[in-house]
Amino acid sequence: MVTKARLFFVSGFGAGLAASALVMRAAHPPDAEAVARRYRGWARLYHWIGVTLQERLVPARDRLAEMARLRPGGRVLDLACGTGGNLPFIRERVGPGGYVVGVDCSLDMLAQARALINARGWENVRLVRADAAALDLGARFDAVLCSFGLSSIPDCAGAMARALAHLEPGGTFAALDGRLSGHPVGAPLSHFVNLMARVAGGDLSRRPWEWLAAHTTDFQYEEKLVGALYLAAGRRPIYI
Ligand SMILES: C[S@@+](CC[C@H](N)C(=O)[O-])C[C@H]1O[C@@H](n2cnc3c(N)ncnc32)[C@H](O)[C@@H]1O
Repeated sequence: MVTKARLFFVSGFGAGLAASALVMRAAHPPDAEAVARRYRGWARLYHWIGVTLQERLVPARDRLAEMARLRPGGRVLDLACGTGGNLPFIRERVGPGGYVVGVDCSLDMLAQARALINARGWENVRLVRADAAALDLGARFDAVLCSFGLSSIPDCAGAMARALAHLEPGGTFAALDGRLSGHPVGAPLSHFVNLMARVAGGDLSRRPWEWLAAHTTDFQYEEKLVGALYLAAGRRPIYI
């Protein structure tokens, strides 16, 4: 009974937040600055939720790093890195001889990532504040990872094109994110998560893996959590 009441309260609260976010979004279409403002108040909470859910996300983040084909000494770009949830998985694989750049438009999210880097004493992990859709780092990478970012970045296709341009030919672009599940159990779960995602400006109805399938080679695609999560990866074609 208590659980039902709590569920009812959380669902109602989520739906209310999402409805007001949609009204606000209609009035002010989001851009990277708007996203950064939205994450200003959320960064600490996001970090706390991330730490709380960390155990559950370990297999998915680990699989993302595996699909990105990370190697010791590799150069890796973590797109929309947020509070740095992927960094331990990347750093573990590239080691001290590798090079990692985390990009995000939110200074508040990056501050949490900076605290993690300092606490671990990583000297080869750099953070850059930038709009992923206008990214120009003047450098090439062996792999680009993006987790829970492609549903958040307003110009998702633009950001994916910029990410691909930062890859060496043959380098891998690997993405992990939520999706709208068609499974009887996954569908209600993913629609509820989508309501919450919309509060932060996200949209799980996007299908960025289709862009990836069309623009890369050796394309791989997997679903987890009864279709509520997807992992996708592909290599930058050699001929570009
Ligand atoms: C849901 S969080 C994911 C963070 C992290 N990748 C993770 O796995 O926990 C989405 C992140 O995308 C970032 N973001 C959204 N739009 C962006 C843009 N145009 N350029 C750079 N970062 C962006 C937000 O600031 C936020 O940190």
